[in-house]
Amino acid sequence: MLPAMPDRPPRTPLANLPTPLERLDRTSDLLGIDLWVKRDDLTGAALTGNKVRKLEYLCGEALSPAVGADTLITCGAVTSNHCRATAVAAARLGLRSVLILRGDDPEVPDGNLLLDRLVGAETLFITAEQWPAREERMAEVAKRLRSDGRRPYVIPEGGSNALGAWGYRAAVEELDHQAELAGIDVGQIWHAVGSGGTTAGLALGYAGRDVEVCGVAVCDDAAYFDPVIEGLVAPSGLDAHWRIIEGYQGTGYAEATAEELAFYAEVATREGLILDPVYTGKAFRALCLEAAAGRVPRDRAMVFLHTGGIYGLFSFADALASGPR
Ligand SMILES: Cc1ncc(COP(=O)(O)O)c(C=O)c1O
Repeated sequence: MLPAMPDRPPRTPLANLPTPLERLDRTSDLLGIDLWVKRDDLTGAALTGNKVRKLEYLCGEALSPAVGADTLITCGAVTSNHCRATAVAAARLGLRSVLILRGDDPEVPDGNLLLDRLVGAETLFITAEQWPAREERMAEVAKRLRSDGRRPYVIPEGGSNALGAWGYRAAVEELDHQAELAGIDVGQIWHAVGSGGTTAGLALGYAGRDVEVCGVAVCDDAAYFDPVIEGLVAPSGLDAHWRIIEGYQGTGYAEATAEELAFYAEVATREGLILDPVYTGKAFRALCLEAAAGRVPRDRAMVFLHTGGIYGLFSFADALASGPR
């Protein structure tokens, strides 16, 4: 029997749920583990990835009668999956969107930025030096819109606040049901950590249970993420626990070595599973290397949460094409 979630906030359906839970047979055999993938890259075609689950709750509040928003404002890197998901969600809901993007405005947009523009987002660019003041910048945009008679709703970076964390808190219910149908006992769930909201949600969903939430840092480290996640779970008062896995950030955020790219190509060929070099690739590689080193349990099922990010792959086309295949 699943624990009741009486304080669950209102949700605006956006994702195609439930996403499949599939066994990775060949990788399981290779590593001697029981490995499954939760396909949250299939939450939608343009609204793909983990951000959609958070946006269901954030948009639930944005559309509530008390807020009645007509515009969503958020921020992220110019390549941000979260900004793209927010812009697409806004268009789906008949709202407008404004994105504060870190980086340069390219002559020809591609990847997520191309989609941002296609769905009509207003895109404003800031430099890495201006990034620490992103919240003030969003507040200024909100003020400008309010003075024009609009009703903005500000979503933090990555959709990672206590409300957004409900997306993955609720996803645990979905996964529990699927694990029961598949007859598996989940011991660990692995995923990429970028702003901490997914980890916080999973940790809340599994609170008080014997399931280890393993978040692979794709940038920063545990000393940075632990207090951020603590801040997201603390208001619940639940016994939430998680572990940040370090050492797989590689040469930096959104960077990929030839060895990493070769690994993603190998997984794609072996399993038909497409990983992105910014988030899911690093997390999946961490899981495989930790398993190969005998540092994961072999007597319980492991789940890899595929959080999407496919549009991030295309900026590595040249390197992938010239890589060792
Ligand atoms: C594809 C993908 N996976 C994982 C993450 C990390 O999720 P979170 O920001 O909730 O830590 C992000 C965003 O940061 C993402 O875009």
